[in-house]
Amino acid sequence: MTNPLRLSSSRIAIVDDESANVLLLERLLIQLGYNNIESFTNPEEALTRILDPNVDLVLLDIQMPRFSGFDILEKIRENSLDNEFRPVMVLTADATPATKRKALALGADDFLTKPFEAYEVALRVKNLLRTRQLYKELTLENDLLEQRVLERTKDLEAVQIEIVDRLGLATEYRDDDTKAHTVRVGELASNLARTLDLPEKFVHLIRLAAPLHDIGKIGISDLILLKEGKLTDDEYNTMKKHCEIGASILSGSNSEILQLAQEIAISHHERWDGRGYPNNLSGEDIPLAGRIVSVVDVFDALTHERTYKKAWSVEDAIAEIRKNAGTQFDPTIVTALLTLFPFIDQRIAA
Ligand code: C2E
Ligand code: SIN
Ligand code: SIN
Ligand code: SIN
Ligand code: FE
Repeated sequence: MTNPLRLSSSRIAIVDDESANVLLLERLLIQLGYNNIESFTNPEEALTRILDPNVDLVLLDIQMPRFSGFDILEKIRENSLDNEFRPVMVLTADATPATKRKALALGADDFLTKPFEAYEVALRVKNLLRTRQLYKELTLENDLLEQRVLERTKDLEAVQIEIVDRLGLATEYRDDDTKAHTVRVGELASNLARTLDLPEKFVHLIRLAAPLHDIGKIGISDLILLKEGKLTDDEYNTMKKHCEIGASILSGSNSEILQLAQEIAISHHERWDGRGYPNNLSGEDIPLAGRIVSVVDVFDALTHERTYKKAWSVEDAIAEIRKNAGTQFDPTIVTALLTLFPFIDQRIAA
């Protein structure tokens, strides 16, 4: 450990109603090199000071008027934290077993028998202070380790999110028309997930993962991807491969974000009625994230210009999606989308 506390500057409190005892102990401790000693002959006054967590060791007389050492032991125990070692050494003249037992039961850590022997004071004080010091260092080290693990986890998450964002950017880069499309899809998917009362973790993950739904378009030639006007059947069949290409780019990751992104890439063109691609899944066999992104993707494609189509109004897009609820789209998710556009919804003739 860096900068270990020197034992000689440990804070030691002496509580004994007989000033002769206090003076004797003080002198002994000073001879032993300790230089941070506070003494109290009035136990009530002592109490206001020795509960300070910076006191390293309490030397405590038991037989005192009004307020006994037992009372003080109880107060110290009540005020101690679980993970700290606050040693109390009891000073005993009458070392009856009953007194010792009671002191131990109340949390005393050691005994010094009056009259004091210098070597005994030296040994016991040093042992208790070193134990306390080790406790402190261990606690400090644990705190530091915990802190470092937390920071490292945060760093890893931030790096993951950054890489995912940049992958999304790579998708957009190919196609001017879909610029910002990926980010919007993440945001709307996340809002829909929240409207559907899905767990907050899923709401968070889908915002990060959904922007990667079309990453497989990286593998589609510009001639098809950027074609102005309608695709031929062959071209459209090639275009449909972007689902599997995307899934294979994203496969095998330990990252929850990429795992969800893979699920979305492979399933976002499936249809509720089973006539989608690539696997002709239907209904709830389609992963929920894919069903959500399917609705969001089409909404966004309709409301923005493509090389092959003009932008639709939000009203027309909503009407088109509503028309396809139960055939192309999961109707529950369409209903949730409508609640996100309450004003527009009222204006559409149902
Ligand atoms: P995209 O442009 O991001 O479109 C995503 C989905 O939005 C489409 O999936 C389709 O379900 C829906 N969508 C887009 N425009 C319209 C529309 O005018 N009417 C309706 N009802 N739905 C629309 P889809 O069809 O599987 O297409 C996947 C991708 O293939 C499209 O992604 C786009 O990149 C490409 N694509 C599809 N048709 C054409 C086309 O005629 N020309 C060109 N150049 N590319 C096309
Ligand atoms: C996150 O919740 O921000 C990251 C989750 C993960 O580890 O994939
Ligand atoms: C959820 O976390 O509730 C959604 C999981 C799924 O079906 O994809
Ligand atoms: C289009 O035909 O304009 C593309 C949308 C679709 O294939 O459904
Ligand atoms: Fe797609």
